Amino acid sequence: MATHMAASSREGKKLNDGVFWAGQAAQQAIAQYGEQAVVNATVGCYAGEDGELGCLPTVEALYRTLPIDDFITYAPPIGLPEYRQAAIAETFEDQRPDGYADAVATAGGTGAVHIAITNYSEVGDTVLTTDWRWGIYGGLCQEVGRKLAAFSLFDEERHFNLPAFAAAMTDILSRQDSLLLILNTPANNPTGFAMSEEDWDGVLQICREQEAKGKRITILVDIAYIAYAGEKNAVRQFMKKFSNLPPHILILFAFSMSKGYTLYGQRAGALVALSSSRDVIDEFVELGRYSARTSWSNVNRAAMTLLVKVRQDPKLQQQVDAERQAFFDVIWKRADLFMQEAAQCGLRIVPYHGGFFISIPTDDASAVCRRLQEKRIFAAPLAQGVRLGVCSVPLHQIQGLALKIKEAIEDM
Ligand SMILES: Cc1ncc(COP(=O)(O)O)c(C=O)c1O
Repeated sequence: MATHMAASSREGKKLNDGVFWAGQAAQQAIAQYGEQAVVNATVGCYAGEDGELGCLPTVEALYRTLPIDDFITYAPPIGLPEYRQAAIAETFEDQRPDGYADAVATAGGTGAVHIAITNYSEVGDTVLTTDWRWGIYGGLCQEVGRKLAAFSLFDEERHFNLPAFAAAMTDILSRQDSLLLILNTPANNPTGFAMSEEDWDGVLQICREQEAKGKRITILVDIAYIAYAGEKNAVRQFMKKFSNLPPHILILFAFSMSKGYTLYGQRAGALVALSSSRDVIDEFVELGRYSARTSWSNVNRAAMTLLVKVRQDPKLQQQVDAERQAFFDVIWKRADLFMQEAAQCGLRIVPYHGGFFISIPTDDASAVCRRLQEKRIFAAPLAQGVRLGVCSVPLHQIQGLALKIKEAIEDM
C-alpha cells in the first residue's frame, strides 16, 4: 500500500489536464521524428512562421533595459499605483464606461480569476460559465469550495444562446442570493468566439431583472486574448454598456500581460473592477489587497514597470500596437486558410472571430485526437471538441489540416 502524508481532503487530487498531456505527447513525437514531421497544435502561445515562440520586439528590448532593482525589489501586494492605473487604461482603451474603477495586481489572469471567485461567490455556491471554456475555471472553483455550472454557449444556428443563459441564471438564483458569471470574450479560449453588442444587451437585461429581484450579480469578463481580437477600440465597444449599472451588478475584468505582452512566464495581470458605487470599489480594493497578500504576496515588479513605461509613452504604445497587429495578421492568415479549407471539405467548426484558437465540435475529442496523433498531428482534446492553436502552427502546416481532421472524425 502506498504511504500517504497529505491531508485526507487532498488525497488523490490530481491535475486532470488533457491539454498538458497532448503537449507532452507532441514533444515526444518531435524528439523522435523532428519538428518538420509533427504538427503541434497544442501550444497556447504565439509562434512565428519559423515555429519559434514570439516575443513582441519592443517588449523584449524594453524589458532588457530595466535595472536589476525592478527585478528584485518587492512591490506592494496590491500592485504599483501606476501599474494599477495602466491596467485600467489598457482594459478600457477609449471605451471607458462611466463609473468608479480600480485594479489589483494579480499573478497573471489566473490570479485575477482566482481572487474574483474567492471574493465574489459564496463557499458552496455555484459559479456560472459557458460550456466551451478554459478548462482551468473548474479547478479554480473547486479549489476554493465552489461548484462550476455551464450553459450552452451556442444555439442551433451557432449564435450566442441567450435562452440557455437565462434558464441557467434563473435556476441557480432560485437557490442563491448572488451569482458570479464568467464570460471569456472576445477571442474566447477555446473557440475564438466573441459576443456581439446584442448578446451583451441580452445578458445585461437578464442581470438587471435579477438585480431588481434583490440578487447580487458579478460578471467577470476574461479578456486574456483581447489584444488579438481586432482593432482595440472596436473590440471594446461593448464595455460602454457597463456605464451606470445598478450598484448590485459589479463588472470585473481579468486582465493579463501573458498574451498581450508575450510575457507568459512573468506572471503579471490584474483584476479590474467597475461599479456605480464608490463603496463597492473601496471594498474591492481592500479585499484585493488581502487576497494578494495571502495568495502570492506581490507580483513581478519588472513586468509592472514595463506596462507603465509602455502606457506612458505614446511612441512605445504605437509600436506595441503595430507589433501585436503583425502577430495577429499571421494568426488570421492561418485561421482564414483553415476556415476556407474546412468549408471546402465540409468540416464543421465553431465560429472563429479572433484569438489564439479554433475548435472543432465532436462528442469524442480524445478518440479524434488519438486518431490524429497517428498522423503526427497533436491537438488538445476538450469536453466539447478538439482545440487547435492557430497561434503557433505555421501556415504550411495548416494547409490540408482541415481535411485530415475531417477524415479522423469520419474514421471514428
Ligand atoms: C481564457 C483564459 N483566461 C485566463 C488565462 C490566464 O493566463 P495567465 O494566468 O497566464 O495570465 C488563460 C491562459 O491560458 C486563458 O486561456
